[in-house]
Amino acid sequence: MAHERILVLDFGGQYNQLIARRVRECSVYCEVKPYTTPISEIKAFSPIGIIFTGGPGSVYAPDSPQADPELFHLGIPILGICYGCQLLAHNLGGRVTAAQRDSAREFGKTETSFDTTCKLFRGLPPQGTSWMSHGDYMEKVPDGFSLVAHSEACPTVAICNESKGFYGVQFHPEVNHTENGTAMIRNFLYEVCGASGDWTMGDYKSTAIEKIRETVGKGKVLLALSGGVDSSVAAALMAEAIGEQLTCVFVDHGLMRLNEGDEVEAAFSKWNLNFVRANVEELFLSKLKGITEPEKKRKLIGEEFIRVFETEAKKIGTVDYLCQGTIYPDVIESGAGNAAVIKSHHNVGGLPDYVDFKEIIEPLRMLFKDEVRQLGRELGLPEYLVMRQPFPGPGLAIRVIGEVTKEKLTTLRFADFIFRDEISKAGLEQTMSQYFAVLTNVQSVGVMGDGRTYDYTLALRSVTTSDFMTADWTRIPYEVLDRISVRIVNEVPHINRIVYDITSKPPSTIEWE
Ligand code: XMP
Repeated sequence: MAHERILVLDFGGQYNQLIARRVRECSVYCEVKPYTTPISEIKAFSPIGIIFTGGPGSVYAPDSPQADPELFHLGIPILGICYGCQLLAHNLGGRVTAAQRDSAREFGKTETSFDTTCKLFRGLPPQGTSWMSHGDYMEKVPDGFSLVAHSEACPTVAICNESKGFYGVQFHPEVNHTENGTAMIRNFLYEVCGASGDWTMGDYKSTAIEKIRETVGKGKVLLALSGGVDSSVAAALMAEAIGEQLTCVFVDHGLMRLNEGDEVEAAFSKWNLNFVRANVEELFLSKLKGITEPEKKRKLIGEEFIRVFETEAKKIGTVDYLCQGTIYPDVIESGAGNAAVIKSHHNVGGLPDYVDFKEIIEPLRMLFKDEVRQLGRELGLPEYLVMRQPFPGPGLAIRVIGEVTKEKLTTLRFADFIFRDEISKAGLEQTMSQYFAVLTNVQSVGVMGDGRTYDYTLALRSVTTSDFMTADWTRIPYEVLDRISVRIVNEVPHINRIVYDITSKPPSTIEWE
Protein backbone atom coordinates (compact mmCIF):
# COMPACT_ATOMS: atom_id res chain seq x y z
CA MET A 1 0.00 0.00 0.00
CA ALA A 2 1.32 3.47 -0.88
CA HIS A 3 1.50 5.71 2.16
CA GLU A 4 0.82 9.41 2.35
CA ARG A 5 4.18 11.09 2.04
CA ILE A 6 5.84 14.21 3.33
CA LEU A 7 8.90 15.58 1.61
CA VAL A 8 11.52 17.25 3.79
CA LEU A 9 13.53 19.44 1.47
CA ASP A 10 17.04 19.82 2.80
CA PHE A 11 18.60 23.28 2.65
CA GLY A 12 21.58 22.33 4.79
CA GLY A 13 20.15 22.69 8.30
CA GLN A 14 21.47 20.88 11.34
CA TYR A 15 18.19 19.34 12.39
CA ASN A 16 16.88 17.91 9.14
CA GLN A 17 16.75 14.31 10.28
CA LEU A 18 15.14 15.46 13.47
CA ILE A 19 12.33 16.99 11.41
CA ALA A 20 11.96 13.68 9.58
CA ARG A 21 11.88 11.88 12.85
CA ARG A 22 9.12 14.16 14.21
CA VAL A 23 7.05 13.48 11.10
CA ARG A 24 7.50 9.73 11.60
CA GLU A 25 6.58 10.21 15.26
CA CYS A 26 3.28 11.64 14.00
CA SER A 27 2.70 8.40 12.00
CA VAL A 28 3.32 9.91 8.58
CA TYR A 29 5.88 8.57 6.10
CA CYS A 30 8.55 11.02 5.03
CA GLU A 31 11.80 11.29 3.14
CA VAL A 32 14.56 13.89 3.24
CA LYS A 33 15.78 14.96 -0.20
CA PRO A 34 18.28 17.65 -1.20
CA TYR A 35 16.94 21.02 -2.31
CA THR A 36 18.47 20.34 -5.73
CA THR A 37 16.05 17.44 -6.35
CA PRO A 38 14.47 18.01 -9.80
CA ILE A 39 10.88 19.15 -9.75
CA SER A 40 9.90 16.15 -11.86
CA GLU A 41 11.18 13.83 -9.14
CA ILE A 42 9.31 15.80 -6.50
CA LYS A 43 6.09 15.55 -8.49
CA ALA A 44 6.60 11.82 -8.96
CA PHE A 45 7.10 11.45 -5.21
CA SER A 46 3.68 13.13 -4.86
CA PRO A 47 3.94 14.43 -1.31
CA ILE A 48 0.88 15.67 0.60
CA GLY A 49 3.08 18.39 2.10
CA ILE A 50 6.60 19.77 1.88
CA ILE A 51 8.78 21.00 4.72
CA PHE A 52 11.64 23.36 3.95
CA THR A 53 14.41 22.86 6.48
CA GLY A 54 16.65 25.45 8.07
CA GLY A 55 20.04 26.18 6.61
CA PRO A 56 23.18 28.18 7.32
CA GLY A 57 22.85 30.66 4.44
CA SER A 58 21.09 33.97 3.90
CA VAL A 59 18.36 33.79 1.27
CA TYR A 60 19.50 37.05 -0.36
CA ALA A 61 23.15 35.90 -0.71
CA PRO A 62 23.99 35.16 -4.38
CA ASP A 63 25.13 31.56 -3.86
CA SER A 64 22.60 30.53 -1.24
CA PRO A 65 20.47 27.40 -1.78
CA GLN A 66 17.25 28.36 -3.50
CA ALA A 67 13.88 26.70 -3.91
CA ASP A 68 12.59 25.92 -7.39
CA PRO A 69 9.84 28.58 -7.93
CA GLU A 70 7.58 25.89 -9.38
CA LEU A 71 7.27 24.42 -5.88
CA PHE A 72 4.97 27.28 -4.99
CA HIS A 73 2.58 26.41 -7.82
CA LEU A 74 2.08 22.71 -7.16
CA GLY A 75 -0.89 23.27 -4.87
CA ILE A 76 0.97 21.39 -2.12
CA PRO A 77 1.12 22.88 1.39
CA ILE A 78 4.55 24.07 2.52
CA LEU A 79 5.96 24.58 6.00
CA GLY A 80 9.17 26.62 6.04
CA ILE A 81 11.37 26.35 9.11
CA CYS A 82 13.90 29.11 9.89
CA TYR A 83 15.84 29.49 6.60
CA GLY A 84 12.90 27.69 4.97
CA CYS A 85 10.56 30.35 6.32
CA GLN A 86 12.78 33.09 4.92
CA LEU A 87 12.78 31.30 1.56
CA LEU A 88 9.01 31.42 1.51
CA ALA A 89 9.01 35.13 2.26
CA HIS A 90 11.82 35.85 -0.21
CA ASN A 91 10.13 33.96 -3.06
CA LEU A 92 6.61 35.22 -2.53
CA GLY A 93 7.27 38.95 -2.46
CA GLY A 94 8.40 39.58 1.11
CA ARG A 95 11.76 40.98 2.15
CA VAL A 96 14.38 39.28 4.30
CA THR A 97 17.33 41.23 5.67
CA ALA A 98 20.13 40.86 8.16
CA ALA A 99 18.80 42.01 11.50
CA GLN A 100 20.10 45.53 11.95
CA ARG A 101 19.56 45.58 15.63
CA ASP A 102 21.13 42.88 17.71
CA SER A 103 17.83 42.59 19.49
CA ALA A 104 16.10 41.37 16.30
CA ARG A 105 18.55 38.47 15.97
CA GLU A 106 17.50 35.64 18.15
CA PHE A 107 19.39 32.61 19.41
CA GLY A 108 18.14 30.16 21.98
CA LYS A 109 14.95 29.96 24.02
CA THR A 110 12.58 32.82 23.32
CA GLU A 111 9.21 33.63 24.84
CA THR A 112 6.76 33.68 21.94
CA SER A 113 3.09 34.61 21.49
CA PHE A 114 1.03 32.60 19.02
CA ASP A 115 -2.21 33.32 17.20
CA THR A 116 -4.12 30.15 17.94
CA THR A 117 -6.68 30.77 15.22
CA CYS A 118 -3.93 29.78 12.76
CA LYS A 119 -4.16 26.05 11.95
CA LEU A 120 -0.51 25.55 12.87
CA PHE A 121 -1.07 26.62 16.46
CA ARG A 122 -4.64 25.40 16.85
CA GLY A 123 -5.39 23.90 20.23
CA LEU A 124 -2.07 25.05 21.72
CA PRO A 125 -1.38 27.60 24.46
CA PRO A 126 -1.08 31.22 23.18
CA GLN A 127 2.29 31.66 24.90
CA GLY A 128 5.31 29.40 24.93
CA THR A 129 9.04 29.02 24.57
CA SER A 130 10.42 28.55 21.10
CA TRP A 131 13.97 27.75 20.05
CA MET A 132 15.36 30.41 17.74
CA SER A 133 18.54 30.51 15.76
CA HIS A 134 18.39 33.26 13.18
CA GLY A 135 20.42 36.34 12.30
CA ASP A 136 18.15 37.33 9.40
CA TYR A 137 14.56 38.35 9.78
CA MET A 138 11.52 39.06 7.65
CA GLU A 139 11.30 42.80 7.31
CA LYS A 140 8.33 42.64 4.98
CA VAL A 141 5.82 39.83 4.95
CA PRO A 142 4.57 38.75 1.48
CA ASP A 143 1.13 39.94 0.36
CA GLY A 144 -1.64 37.58 1.33
CA PHE A 145 0.26 36.41 4.44
CA SER A 146 -0.69 37.08 8.06
CA LEU A 147 1.60 37.42 11.02
CA VAL A 148 0.73 34.65 13.44
CA ALA A 149 3.49 34.73 16.07
CA HIS A 150 5.79 37.32 17.58
CA SER A 151 8.36 37.70 20.31
CA GLU A 152 9.51 40.76 22.17
CA ALA A 153 12.45 41.28 19.78
CA CYS A 154 10.89 40.08 16.55
CA PRO A 155 7.43 40.97 15.20
CA THR A 156 7.60 38.32 12.44
CA VAL A 157 8.16 34.99 14.15
CA ALA A 158 5.57 33.08 12.09
CA ILE A 159 3.58 33.78 8.94
CA CYS A 160 0.87 32.01 7.06
CA ASN A 161 -1.28 32.11 4.00
CA GLU A 162 -3.96 29.62 4.91
CA SER A 163 -5.75 29.66 1.58
CA LYS A 164 -2.56 28.47 -0.14
CA GLY A 165 -1.45 26.25 2.75
CA PHE A 166 1.87 28.10 3.21
CA TYR A 167 3.30 28.43 6.71
CA GLY A 168 6.63 29.74 7.92
CA VAL A 169 8.19 29.75 11.38
CA GLN A 170 11.46 31.43 12.32
CA PHE A 171 12.02 29.01 15.19
CA HIS A 172 12.71 25.27 15.18
CA PRO A 173 9.59 23.30 16.15
CA GLU A 174 11.53 20.04 15.74
CA VAL A 175 13.85 20.57 18.73
CA ASN A 176 12.76 19.69 22.24
CA HIS A 177 13.39 23.20 23.53
CA THR A 178 10.38 24.43 21.58
CA GLU A 179 7.34 23.80 23.74
CA ASN A 180 4.62 22.03 21.72
CA GLY A 181 6.91 21.90 18.68
CA THR A 182 5.83 18.39 17.74
CA ALA A 183 2.19 19.42 18.16
CA MET A 184 2.79 22.21 15.63
CA ILE A 185 4.27 19.75 13.17
CA ARG A 186 1.34 17.44 13.84
CA ASN A 187 -1.04 20.32 13.11
CA PHE A 188 0.73 20.96 9.83
CA LEU A 189 0.44 17.30 8.88
CA TYR A 190 -3.12 16.68 9.99
CA GLU A 191 -4.87 20.06 9.92
CA VAL A 192 -3.14 21.51 6.87
CA CYS A 193 -2.03 18.55 4.73
CA GLY A 194 -4.95 16.34 5.74
CA ALA A 195 -2.79 13.39 6.73
CA SER A 196 -4.59 10.38 8.14
CA GLY A 197 -1.61 8.87 9.98
CA ASP A 198 -1.26 5.73 7.91
CA TRP A 199 2.38 4.91 8.69
CA THR A 200 3.86 2.86 11.54
CA MET A 201 7.23 1.40 12.55
CA GLY A 202 5.83 -1.89 11.21
CA ASP A 203 5.72 -0.22 7.80
CA TYR A 204 9.30 0.95 8.25
CA LYS A 205 10.22 -2.66 8.91
CA SER A 206 8.54 -3.95 5.75
CA THR A 207 10.04 -1.23 3.56
CA ALA A 208 13.50 -1.75 5.04
CA ILE A 209 13.23 -5.51 4.48
CA GLU A 210 12.23 -5.00 0.85
CA LYS A 211 15.16 -2.63 0.29
CA ILE A 212 17.63 -5.03 1.92
CA ARG A 213 16.41 -7.91 -0.27
CA GLU A 214 16.76 -5.76 -3.36
CA THR A 215 20.30 -4.70 -2.45
CA VAL A 216 21.60 -8.05 -1.30
CA GLY A 217 20.01 -10.32 -3.89
CA LYS A 218 21.58 -13.72 -3.40
CA GLY A 219 24.69 -12.25 -1.74
CA LYS A 220 26.15 -13.08 1.66
CA VAL A 221 26.23 -10.63 4.55
CA LEU A 222 28.47 -10.58 7.58
CA LEU A 223 27.52 -8.74 10.75
CA ALA A 224 29.60 -8.17 13.89
CA LEU A 225 27.17 -8.54 16.76
CA SER A 226 28.17 -6.92 20.04
CA GLY A 227 24.94 -7.60 21.91
CA GLY A 228 24.22 -3.89 22.15
CA VAL A 229 20.87 -2.50 21.05
CA ASP A 230 21.93 -1.20 17.64
CA SER A 231 23.78 -4.23 16.33
CA SER A 232 21.09 -6.53 17.74
CA VAL A 233 18.29 -4.66 15.98
CA ALA A 234 20.30 -4.52 12.75
CA ALA A 235 20.89 -8.27 13.03
CA ALA A 236 17.22 -8.99 13.67
CA LEU A 237 16.17 -6.88 10.70
CA MET A 238 18.72 -8.54 8.42
CA ALA A 239 17.71 -11.97 9.69
CA GLU A 240 14.08 -11.25 8.87
CA ALA A 241 15.11 -10.04 5.41
CA ILE A 242 17.67 -12.58 4.26
CA GLY A 243 17.79 -15.39 6.82
CA GLU A 244 20.54 -17.87 6.03
CA GLN A 245 22.42 -15.46 3.78
CA LEU A 246 23.35 -13.63 6.98
CA THR A 247 26.13 -14.64 9.33
CA CYS A 248 26.31 -12.92 12.69
CA VAL A 249 29.64 -13.17 14.44
CA PHE A 250 29.23 -12.58 18.14
CA VAL A 251 32.62 -12.23 19.80
CA ASP A 252 31.99 -13.23 23.40
CA HIS A 253 35.13 -11.94 25.07
CA GLY A 254 33.97 -12.94 28.53
CA LEU A 255 33.72 -9.30 29.56
CA MET A 256 29.93 -9.12 29.32
CA ARG A 257 27.49 -8.66 32.17
CA LEU A 258 25.75 -11.57 33.91
CA ASN A 259 24.07 -13.94 31.41
CA GLU A 260 24.46 -11.43 28.60
CA GLY A 261 26.15 -13.76 26.14
CA ASP A 262 23.46 -16.43 26.58
CA GLU A 263 20.70 -13.85 26.28
CA VAL A 264 22.05 -12.60 22.98
CA GLU A 265 22.39 -16.11 21.62
CA ALA A 266 18.89 -17.07 22.79
CA ALA A 267 17.35 -13.97 21.21
CA PHE A 268 18.71 -14.94 17.80
CA SER A 269 17.85 -18.62 17.97
CA LYS A 270 14.40 -18.00 16.51
CA TRP A 271 15.77 -16.93 13.14
CA ASN A 272 17.19 -19.22 10.53
CA LEU A 273 20.53 -17.47 10.34
CA ASN A 274 24.11 -18.51 10.76
CA PHE A 275 25.02 -17.47 14.27
CA VAL A 276 28.63 -17.84 15.32
CA ARG A 277 29.44 -17.32 18.96
CA ALA A 278 33.16 -17.18 19.41
CA ASN A 279 33.75 -18.09 23.04
CA VAL A 280 37.10 -16.47 23.60
CA GLU A 281 37.07 -15.61 27.28
CA GLU A 282 40.26 -17.51 28.02
CA LEU A 283 42.07 -15.85 25.14
CA PHE A 284 41.10 -12.37 26.33
CA LEU A 285 41.96 -13.12 29.95
CA SER A 286 45.37 -14.40 29.00
CA LYS A 287 46.03 -11.29 26.92
CA LEU A 288 44.86 -9.03 29.75
CA LYS A 289 47.05 -10.73 32.35
CA GLY A 290 49.24 -8.25 34.19
CA ILE A 291 47.82 -5.22 32.38
CA THR A 292 46.61 -2.40 34.59
CA GLU A 293 46.81 0.69 32.41
CA PRO A 294 43.32 1.62 31.07
CA GLU A 295 44.39 2.68 27.59
CA LYS A 296 46.44 -0.48 27.15
CA LYS A 297 43.43 -2.56 28.11
CA ARG A 298 41.22 -0.76 25.62
CA LYS A 299 43.66 -1.05 22.74
CA LEU A 300 44.38 -4.66 23.40
CA ILE A 301 40.71 -5.60 23.58
CA GLY A 302 39.92 -3.66 20.39
CA GLU A 303 42.71 -5.36 18.49
CA GLU A 304 41.95 -8.83 19.75
CA PHE A 305 38.27 -8.36 18.91
CA ILE A 306 39.23 -7.77 15.30
CA ARG A 307 41.56 -10.75 15.20
CA VAL A 308 38.76 -13.06 16.39
CA PHE A 309 36.27 -11.47 14.02
CA GLU A 310 38.71 -11.94 11.12
CA THR A 311 39.34 -15.57 11.99
CA GLU A 312 35.61 -16.31 12.12
CA ALA A 313 34.94 -14.35 8.93
CA LYS A 314 37.65 -16.24 7.09
CA LYS A 315 35.88 -19.52 7.87
CA ILE A 316 32.78 -18.21 6.11
CA GLY A 317 34.56 -17.51 2.86
CA THR A 318 33.39 -14.94 0.35
CA VAL A 319 31.29 -12.18 1.83
CA ASP A 320 29.49 -9.65 -0.33
CA TYR A 321 28.33 -7.18 2.25
CA LEU A 322 29.29 -6.07 5.71
CA CYS A 323 26.37 -4.88 7.83
CA GLN A 324 26.73 -2.37 10.64
CA GLY A 325 24.25 -1.05 13.19
CA THR A 326 25.20 2.59 12.66
CA ILE A 327 22.40 4.88 13.79
CA TYR A 328 21.80 8.53 13.01
CA PRO A 329 23.52 10.07 16.07
CA ASP A 330 26.67 8.09 15.12
CA VAL A 331 26.51 9.62 11.66
CA ILE A 332 26.34 13.10 13.13
CA GLU A 333 29.09 12.44 15.67
CA SER A 334 31.39 11.02 13.03
CA GLY A 335 30.74 13.88 10.63
CA ALA A 336 28.68 13.38 7.50
CA GLY A 337 30.30 12.01 4.34
CA ASN A 338 32.85 9.57 5.61
CA ALA A 339 30.75 8.43 8.53
CA ALA A 340 30.69 4.80 7.50
CA VAL A 341 34.46 4.46 7.68
CA ILE A 342 34.77 6.22 11.01
CA LYS A 343 32.00 4.19 12.50
CA SER A 344 33.50 0.90 11.42
CA HIS A 345 36.56 1.82 13.44
CA HIS A 346 34.37 2.64 16.37
CA ASN A 347 32.34 -0.55 16.11
CA VAL A 348 34.77 -3.22 15.23
CA GLY A 349 38.12 -1.49 15.45
CA GLY A 350 38.70 -1.26 11.70
CA LEU A 351 37.40 -3.22 8.78
CA PRO A 352 39.28 -6.42 8.12
CA ASP A 353 41.16 -5.86 4.85
CA TYR A 354 40.95 -9.30 3.42
CA VAL A 355 37.16 -9.69 3.63
CA ASP A 356 36.25 -9.04 0.07
CA PHE A 357 32.92 -7.26 0.34
CA LYS A 358 31.24 -4.99 -2.15
CA GLU A 359 29.51 -2.62 0.18
CA ILE A 360 28.59 -1.71 3.70
CA ILE A 361 24.93 -1.95 4.61
CA GLU A 362 23.64 0.30 7.38
CA PRO A 363 19.90 -0.26 7.64
CA LEU A 364 19.44 1.91 10.76
CA ARG A 365 21.42 4.88 9.51
CA MET A 366 18.48 7.26 9.52
CA LEU A 367 16.94 6.22 12.83
CA PHE A 368 17.28 7.69 16.30
CA LYS A 369 17.85 5.49 19.32
CA ASP A 370 14.25 5.32 20.48
CA GLU A 371 13.12 4.49 16.94
CA VAL A 372 15.70 1.71 16.83
CA ARG A 373 14.22 0.37 20.07
CA GLN A 374 10.72 0.55 18.60
CA LEU A 375 11.89 -1.31 15.51
CA GLY A 376 13.52 -3.94 17.74
CA ARG A 377 10.19 -4.53 19.46
CA GLU A 378 8.47 -4.70 16.10
CA LEU A 379 10.94 -7.45 15.14
CA GLY A 380 10.14 -9.37 18.31
CA LEU A 381 13.38 -8.81 20.22
CA PRO A 382 12.91 -9.20 23.98
CA GLU A 383 12.49 -6.06 26.08
CA TYR A 384 15.72 -6.58 28.05
CA LEU A 385 17.67 -6.47 24.81
CA VAL A 386 15.78 -3.56 23.32
CA MET A 387 16.04 -1.41 26.43
CA ARG A 388 19.64 -2.27 27.17
CA GLN A 389 21.67 0.69 28.38
CA PRO A 390 24.89 1.63 26.59
CA PHE A 391 27.71 -0.78 27.28
CA PRO A 392 31.31 -0.03 26.31
CA GLY A 393 33.09 -2.24 23.79
CA PRO A 394 35.85 -3.19 26.28
CA GLY A 395 33.08 -4.34 28.64
CA LEU A 396 33.71 -5.08 32.28
CA ALA A 397 37.48 -4.91 31.74
CA ILE A 398 37.29 -1.13 32.19
CA ARG A 399 35.08 -1.54 35.26
CA VAL A 400 37.56 -3.77 37.03
CA ILE A 401 40.16 -1.24 38.07
CA GLY A 402 43.68 -2.57 37.79
CA GLU A 403 44.43 -6.07 36.63
CA VAL A 404 41.47 -8.05 35.27
CA THR A 405 41.07 -11.60 36.55
CA LYS A 406 38.35 -14.18 36.20
CA GLU A 407 37.61 -13.98 39.93
CA LYS A 408 37.26 -10.22 39.92
CA LEU A 409 34.99 -10.38 36.88
CA THR A 410 32.75 -12.90 38.64
CA THR A 411 32.55 -10.68 41.72
CA LEU A 412 31.74 -7.59 39.67
CA ARG A 413 29.16 -9.41 37.57
CA PHE A 414 27.15 -10.46 40.62
CA ALA A 415 27.36 -7.06 42.28
CA ASP A 416 26.39 -5.30 39.05
CA PHE A 417 23.44 -7.64 38.62
CA ILE A 418 22.16 -6.90 42.13
CA PHE A 419 22.50 -3.15 41.55
CA ARG A 420 20.48 -3.36 38.32
CA ASP A 421 17.95 -5.71 39.88
CA GLU A 422 17.24 -3.33 42.80
CA ILE A 423 16.99 -0.34 40.48
CA SER A 424 14.48 -2.27 38.43
CA LYS A 425 12.49 -3.32 41.52
CA ALA A 426 12.41 0.31 42.67
CA GLY A 427 11.07 1.27 39.21
CA LEU A 428 13.88 3.77 38.70
CA GLU A 429 15.27 2.56 35.36
CA GLN A 430 13.69 5.34 33.36
CA THR A 431 15.17 8.03 35.61
CA MET A 432 18.77 7.13 34.83
CA SER A 433 20.66 6.89 31.57
CA GLN A 434 23.38 4.47 32.59
CA TYR A 435 24.12 2.69 35.84
CA PHE A 436 26.64 0.05 36.74
CA ALA A 437 29.05 -1.20 39.36
CA VAL A 438 32.81 -0.75 39.38
CA LEU A 439 35.17 -3.04 41.24
CA THR A 440 37.80 -0.70 42.65
CA ASN A 441 41.26 -1.91 43.42
CA VAL A 442 40.97 -0.71 47.00
CA GLN A 443 40.85 -3.22 49.85
CA SER A 444 39.80 -2.14 53.29
CA VAL A 445 39.12 -3.58 56.70
CA GLY A 446 35.63 -4.63 57.71
CA VAL A 447 33.87 -6.84 60.17
CA MET A 448 31.49 -9.62 59.33
CA GLY A 449 29.96 -11.81 61.98
CA ASP A 450 32.70 -11.80 64.57
CA GLY A 451 35.54 -11.79 62.14
CA ARG A 452 37.77 -9.23 60.50
CA THR A 453 37.57 -8.92 56.72
CA TYR A 454 40.00 -7.33 54.33
CA ASP A 455 38.08 -7.11 51.08
CA TYR A 456 37.25 -4.99 48.05
CA THR A 457 35.37 -1.71 47.82
CA LEU A 458 32.67 -1.63 45.18
CA ALA A 459 31.62 1.67 43.64
CA LEU A 460 28.14 2.29 42.26
CA ARG A 461 27.86 4.70 39.36
CA SER A 462 24.68 6.11 37.89
CA VAL A 463 24.32 9.06 35.56
CA THR A 464 21.56 11.01 33.93
CA THR A 465 22.34 12.52 30.57
CA SER A 466 20.83 13.05 27.16
CA ASP A 467 24.02 12.96 25.10
CA PHE A 468 26.64 11.18 27.24
CA MET A 469 29.03 14.07 26.55
CA THR A 470 28.11 15.68 29.83
CA ALA A 471 26.32 13.91 32.63
CA ASP A 472 25.02 14.46 36.12
CA TRP A 473 25.13 11.84 38.84
CA THR A 474 21.72 10.45 39.66
CA ARG A 475 20.10 11.26 42.98
CA ILE A 476 19.15 7.70 43.91
CA PRO A 477 16.95 7.67 47.04
CA TYR A 478 18.92 6.73 50.17
CA GLU A 479 16.64 3.81 51.01
CA VAL A 480 17.29 2.26 47.58
CA LEU A 481 21.05 2.76 47.99
CA ASP A 482 20.74 1.15 51.37
CA ARG A 483 18.96 -1.93 50.01
CA ILE A 484 21.58 -2.29 47.27
CA SER A 485 24.43 -1.97 49.72
CA VAL A 486 23.00 -4.50 52.18
CA ARG A 487 22.26 -7.02 49.45
CA ILE A 488 25.67 -6.78 47.80
CA VAL A 489 27.76 -7.17 50.95
CA ASN A 490 25.56 -10.05 52.05
CA GLU A 491 25.38 -11.88 48.76
CA VAL A 492 28.66 -11.20 46.99
CA PRO A 493 31.85 -12.66 48.49
CA HIS A 494 34.93 -10.40 48.72
CA ILE A 495 33.08 -7.10 48.93
CA ASN A 496 32.85 -5.43 52.32
CA ARG A 497 32.34 -1.77 51.42
CA ILE A 498 30.10 0.10 48.98
CA VAL A 499 30.58 3.70 47.88
CA TYR A 500 28.44 5.84 45.60
CA ASP A 501 30.11 8.00 42.96
CA ILE A 502 28.80 11.57 43.22
CA THR A 503 30.84 13.25 40.51
CA SER A 504 29.40 14.65 37.33
CA LYS A 505 30.99 14.60 33.88
CA PRO A 506 33.04 16.75 33.58
CA PRO A 507 35.23 16.66 35.62
CA SER A 508 34.85 12.85 35.77
CA THR A 509 33.97 10.58 32.91
CA ILE A 510 31.10 8.13 33.08
CA GLU A 511 33.30 5.04 33.03
CA TRP A 512 36.13 4.84 35.58
CA GLU A 513 38.73 3.84 33.03
P1 XMP B 1 32.91 8.19 29.18
O1 XMP B 1 33.49 7.25 30.14
O2 XMP B 1 33.85 8.62 28.11
O3 XMP B 1 31.75 7.41 28.45
O4 XMP B 1 32.27 9.38 29.85
C1 XMP B 1 30.77 7.98 27.61
C2 XMP B 1 29.87 6.88 27.08
O5 XMP B 1 30.60 6.06 26.17
C3 XMP B 1 30.61 4.71 26.62
N1 XMP B 1 31.95 4.17 26.31
C4 XMP B 1 32.23 3.38 25.25
N2 XMP B 1 31.44 2.87 24.29
N3 XMP B 1 33.31 1.76 23.32
C5 XMP B 1 31.99 2.06 23.33
O6 XMP B 1 31.27 1.58 22.44
C6 XMP B 1 34.17 2.23 24.25
O7 XMP B 1 35.36 1.95 24.21
C7 XMP B 1 33.60 3.08 25.27
N4 XMP B 1 34.11 3.74 26.34
C8 XMP B 1 33.10 4.40 26.95
C9 XMP B 1 30.32 4.78 28.11
O8 XMP B 1 29.78 3.56 28.61
C10 XMP B 1 29.36 5.93 28.15
O9 XMP B 1 28.06 5.52 27.78
